[in-house]
Amino acid sequence: MTERTLVLVKPDAVQRQLAGRIIARFEERGLKIVGLKLVKVDRDLAERHYAVHKSKPFFEGLVAFITSSPLVAVALEGPNAIRMVRAMVGATKPAEAAPGTIRGDLAIEMIPNLIHASDGPETAATELAIWFQPHELVSYQREIDRWVMGPES
Ligand code: CMP
Repeated sequence: MTERTLVLVKPDAVQRQLAGRIIARFEERGLKIVGLKLVKVDRDLAERHYAVHKSKPFFEGLVAFITSSPLVAVALEGPNAIRMVRAMVGATKPAEAAPGTIRGDLAIEMIPNLIHASDGPETAATELAIWFQPHELVSYQREIDRWVMGPES
């Protein structure tokens, strides 16, 4: 099933000049970029995005980190995109992030940890609506898709 999901290429990725390489991994896999922007996050946006973590002890550190420098918000589309992107991102706990995943290859901590990805269909819908206006999500055809997705695409 074709899905859309939200990825945040976090401030540490932008500062470490890894944003392009991280986004390229998704492009190379065949996922389609349907939304993309650089955002300097304010406290209100950070609190809305991380509302489920409001009571956690790491919440203030998380907000401070995500508002410290610009991030890149990306909307990705593809078959089973939500699970696929989560698998490519790797586990939140650094020691459990498998080599070959983004965190497993490039991150060593939980904050900073380079990237966020929606963890399920409801979260994806909620998060995409937080980060993108409807007109900022663009539907379009790629000529290459019959070679990426197969002839029926
Ligand atoms: P993210 O995928 O953006 O979703 C929530 C974030 O909270 C997570 O990445 C980590 O950066 C952070 N996080 C989750 N659990 C912990 C924890 N136990 N301690 C510190 N930070 C955490």
